Formats: sequence, structure tokens, C-alpha cells
Amino acid sequence: MSDITVIVLAAGGGTRMKSKTMKVLHPIAGRSMLGHVLAAVGSLQPARVVTVVGHQREQVTQHVQELLPEAVIAVQDTQEGTGHAVRAAWEALPAEARRGTVLVAYGDTPLLQGESLRAFTDFHLGSRHVVSILSGRVADPSGYGRVIRDESGVAAIVEDKDASPAQATVDEINSGILAFDADFLDAALPRIGNDNAKGEYYLTDTVALAREDGRTVGAFLLDDVKQTEGVNDRAQLAALAKEMNARILDRWMKDGVTVVDPTTTWIDADVKLAADVTILPGVQLLGATVVDEDAVIGPDCTLKDMEIGRGAKVVRTHGQLGVVGAGADVGPFSYLRPGTELGAGGKIGAFVETKNARIGEGAKVPHLSYVGDAEIGEGSNIGAGTIFANYDGVEKHRTTVGRHARTGSNNTFVAPVTIGDGAGTGGGTVVREDVPPGALAVSSGPQRNVEGWAQRRRAGTRQADAAESASRDATPGVGEQPAGG
Ligand code: UD1
Ligand code: CA
Repeated sequence: MSDITVIVLAAGGGTRMKSKTMKVLHPIAGRSMLGHVLAAVGSLQPARVVTVVGHQREQVTQHVQELLPEAVIAVQDTQEGTGHAVRAAWEALPAEARRGTVLVAYGDTPLLQGESLRAFTDFHLGSRHVVSILSGRVADPSGYGRVIRDESGVAAIVEDKDASPAQATVDEINSGILAFDADFLDAALPRIGNDNAKGEYYLTDTVALAREDGRTVGAFLLDDVKQTEGVNDRAQLAALAKEMNARILDRWMKDGVTVVDPTTTWIDADVKLAADVTILPGVQLLGATVVDEDAVIGPDCTLKDMEIGRGAKVVRTHGQLGVVGAGADVGPFSYLRPGTELGAGGKIGAFVETKNARIGEGAKVPHLSYVGDAEIGEGSNIGAGTIFANYDGVEKHRTTVGRHARTGSNNTFVAPVTIGDGAGTGGGTVVREDVPPGALAVSSGPQRNVEGWAQRRRAGTRQADAAESASRDATPGVGEQPAGG
């Protein structure tokens, strides 16, 4: 591990976001922008990371401490430029840590990749330059600092507002990411002045200072300059989110995932997909969702922090913090709330909501049900329209259904209650007491038929006519056949 210190600047106001959330904390692909930058920085295995905070510093500090507890937090009280910000970082470091190589990056460049930082750092370490610039060529360089070269190499970075007309035409720009030899930086920081168009302390002035000292400066051209693009407003936030999504999808497609419609598919950075997963249109895979081989997701699913097993099918489903077993079937129109675990080969069907529910291997809840705080054993089938009544108005209670049970339609299981292995219930049963293994529970009374009611009480209606002709046509034997099929 080389001795690298990374300074991440995140003190600027980000006023154009018009947000109570600090700019660098806005999420893209399931991570904050700063989180993306810190992840890229982490791949350098730096000896230390300093984050410079200023605006909304409590929010940013808390976030950094969650992501990277060992990071040093440097406070920049007033934002007087990038040179001023790096000085704040430098002063936050103990003297013995001001050595080796120093990399400066910004907290609002979410597309930045670790491998680009590694290539850039290798370039700097392999050179004799005291400063290196990660530069890029752009079609429209306005707003950026221009990389000015002369016969001995890079001579200066001239900021947009300070550039002469000739300098302004230069299309090689400073991405903002700079690498320094610590000794040089230490000596250069106090020499940076603020006599310029913005009245700020420009970190970029270190380039000309190095040349004054007879040292050399390098520029490492990054082809994929979009990686260093920053976000200033919500339109750029959306544009970079879209770009990042496209990059994530490209990567998964190269790894053997079928994405039928990349324009309507959104996949967060931390999602993991196996080869031969198929994603149909209108799918969002969020958070730490994991999908195993041959699973088919979509159309129209939102799955966050879900684990989907091999060969499972999930259609038009909203799910969070749950597990769908191998070969299981979910949807359409299912709502899987946290704590749902569907076993291999199981089914959660149309208009079913589940929560804290372990549904065993091959068990099925096919239609129109609520399954909350429940355990359903393997191979059991829950009838259509069943409510697991888990809430007594004060507390939640659990329901346990054993293995290979068969429960009727339109049941209510009033928790806490247990339905034994191989037990059954009749249609419309309200289960308030445990059902022993193998028993059939029936809670409604015997049915009473009032013969000829329609003919008497609805005389002259189509109902009565139909009843009348049915009874006229009825011959002995026909009426004894079971109805329906
Ligand atoms: C800076 C560079 C410019 C480069 C461009 C790339 C300087 C002087 N200019 O210009 O050469 O082409 O980035 O985007 O370095 N920040 C602080 N504290 C401050 C000032 C800024 O933390 O006092 C942070 C900001 O939050 C931001 C970053 O530093 O993340 C860049 O600051 P900004 O003011 O946007 O610099 P630019 O004018 O864009
Ligand atoms: Ca900027």
C-alpha cells in the first residue's frame, strides 16, 4: 500500500439544487453522490481520507461517518475556493500524516470510477511531476479551468473567468482531480493568493507555482471525461443518474443478463445479477437486491433489498427486504413487505400482501389474501381471499399453518392461532381456536334452504321465472347431480 492521502471537497453550497438536502447527499443509483466518490476512492486503498465539509456540515459529517468511520473531517467555515478548502484539509491532518501522495477529488462526481483514479495515481507515481492533472477534452470547455501547455509541458491552469480569448479556446480542461507530492503541496498552499476574477484561493494556481520552482507538471487525459462531470442542479442530477443507469445496464448485459428495454429499466449500483437473468420492461431493482440465474423479473416490478432465487418468476410486484425461493412464482399485483420469505417452488399470487411471513417450500397463497406475521408450512395451500388477522387493535400476533394443510376460501385466521399439519378449513371459516393436525375446521352453521322463496317473494321477476322453469324442467336424478364444475 502506497502512502496516499485523498482529500474530498464537499463544502460548497450547491445552492442551485434548491434543496434542504446537501448536494453531495442526493442519491443516484441507490447511493449518495459522495458515497459513489468514496467507493471509487476506496479502491486506491488510501492511507487516509479527509472530507472537507462546510455547508450543511452536520448532514455531511454524519453521512461520511456512516460510510467511512475512519475518515478525517475537516471543517471549512467559509468557502473561499478550492485552495482554501485543501488548506483546511491539510491543517486537519497531523504533521506526520502530511507526506506521500495527495489526491484531491470532489464529492459531486458520481460517475468517477476507481480504475480511473488508479490509472491516474499510477501515472503520477511513475513520473517526476510534483503536480498531475486528470484532464479531459470537451466540446464546450466554458466554465472549466483550461490546461495551458508550453514547450516544457503543462505550464498552468487558467480558470474560465481569468482566461484570455486565446486561452479560452483551449479544449483540454482540468477535471478538478489533481495529484500532488505532499512536500510540494505543503510548501505551495501558503503561497496561493486570491488576486483573480473570483477573489478565491485557486488550488489550480499550484501548477504555475510548480513551474516557478523549476518543477514539472503532468496531465493525464481521461478519455471518458464524463466520469468527472459534476452535478450543480436537479437537471444534471437526472442526466447523470440516467447515464449511470445506462452504464450499469451495459455492464450487466455484458455479463449475460437480458435487459429487454434499457430505457425503462433502473438498476442500482449495489444490485447483483447472475447470468441469464431476464429483465422485462418497467423494472426497478434497488438497494442490495440479488437475483439468481434464470430468474425472470417483470414487467413492472419494484424490488428493493430483495433476494430472488434461481429460476423464479416475479411479475408486476412491489417487494422490499424479502426472499423469493428458487422456482417460485410471484405476481401479478403482489405486495411483499419486509420479512417475506417464500420457499422454493412456492407461490404468492394476484392481489396478495405479505409481511413477516415465512411461506414454506411449494406452499401457495394464490389469490386475494393478506398474510401478516405468519408461518405456512411446506406444501400448504391457502384458499382465495384469506385474511391472517394479525392485529387485535393493540398488539400483533402470529399465525402458524402446518405442512400440507388445505384451507378454504374466504377464511379469517384470528391470531394467535395454529392450524396443524394436514388440517383443513371449510369455506368462510373464521379460525379462532387451534385446529389439530388432520382436522377439518368449519365455523359457520349448517346451511338452511328456504324452498320456493324466489317464486313466492319475487313473483313476476326474471329471477322467479328462471326458478320456476328450472323446477318445471327438473326430473328426478338431474336435481341430484352436483352443481358447478
Ligand atoms: C474547479 C476548478 C476548475 C475545474 C473545475 C472542474 C479551481 C479553482 N477550479 O472550478 O479548474 O475545471 O473545478 O469542475 O479549483 N469547494 C469547497 N470549498 C470551496 C470551494 C469549492 O469545498 O471553498 C468544492 C465544491 O463543493 C466543489 C469543488 O470544490 O465540489 C469545486 O468547486 P467549484 O467552485 O465548483 O469550482 P469550479 O469553479 O467549478
Ligand atoms: Ca464546479
